[in-house]
Amino acid sequence: MIILGIESSCDETAAAVVENGNRVLAERVHSQAADFAQWGGVVPELAARAHLNHLPGVIAEVMDQAQLQPRDLHAVAVSCWPGLMGSLLCGVTAAKMLSQRWQLPLVAVDHIQAHLHAVHLLPQAIAYPALGLVVSGGHSHFYYCPEAGRGQLLGGTIDDAAGEAFDKAAAILGLGYPGGPLIDQLAAEGDPKALPLPRSMLHSGDERLSFAGLKTALLYRVRGPLGKDPLQLDAQGLRDAAASFQAAVVEVLVRKMLQTAQRHSCRHLIVGGGVACNRGLRQALQQACAEQGLQLSLPEPRHCADNAAMVASLGHSLAQRGEFAAPTLSPLPTTAVGPRRQQGK
Ligand code: KG4
Ligand code: ZN
Repeated sequence: MIILGIESSCDETAAAVVENGNRVLAERVHSQAADFAQWGGVVPELAARAHLNHLPGVIAEVMDQAQLQPRDLHAVAVSCWPGLMGSLLCGVTAAKMLSQRWQLPLVAVDHIQAHLHAVHLLPQAIAYPALGLVVSGGHSHFYYCPEAGRGQLLGGTIDDAAGEAFDKAAAILGLGYPGGPLIDQLAAEGDPKALPLPRSMLHSGDERLSFAGLKTALLYRVRGPLGKDPLQLDAQGLRDAAASFQAAVVEVLVRKMLQTAQRHSCRHLIVGGGVACNRGLRQALQQACAEQGLQLSLPEPRHCADNAAMVASLGHSLAQRGEFAAPTLSPLPTTAVGPRRQQGK
């Protein structure tokens, strides 16, 4: 079964063609991140307009690269929620048009579940039930996954998402946008013990996370008690601050993930979302899982950040179960489960 996946929930315009949910025949991501550096974040209207410009090109490119004709496809899958409404509308409208024109079934995909499903693009099999963690710009949540493509929300951040915290920490440190990769890079040469920073919610006994206090602690550490002083860090000071911040986020995520896995008797851990590209997090998870005898699946970095291969991959699982969407499908900005969602309409 060959599925065309389309992703446009935020600021990445992406398309991919995936066979049987795990073999990527072609994929393309056009990131708008550089366009938003001057604004320090995504401007929703500009993102939607850019999707309109780039979607036809990225779709044509993957069809060309994979040397496929529309008749070779079995379905079109699209990220349908959650996300920026204008951005989602572009991808969903494109998917609906293609599905009508090419006479293909339409599959509506939950973007967050797609991040977890990205582990199926790896050669390794997943032993369900698995514990899922999605760490991205908008989410830092744990999911109990009884089978592929189904994640039951256990809990997560009560304030900032991990990626949002990375981006804000980078802004505090006077770095660019998006901040996660920049902090990751600096942290590799910094001292993670240089700044004493808090580890929130470590002992809450549940799945809650919190990163707002950590972000504020960093602000006060580097910009004085009111957080308004000019930054006075030399190059090594910046590396140390980045390393200390990253170490705090990583320690909390890893320890809470292990606690949650134990509480829910999961022996296989799966992780997705842009923050799963973080080298410190990947290394710490690998080490912790090796020590505890747990299995860990971390998608390749290009499949952790927003991409369409994960959408096509989850689309395959849903299509196999006969979970197709109606031609009247419309996107939703949130993930709240309701009757409308359950019917895939
Ligand atoms: O999953 P994603 O591409 O988009 C959303 O659905 O949000 O995640 C984007 C987030 C951004 O906040 C970005 O700073 C963060 O992932 N990120 C990273 C790294 N690469 C991307 N955070 C930490 N370390 C990285 N290497
Ligand atoms: Zn995402």
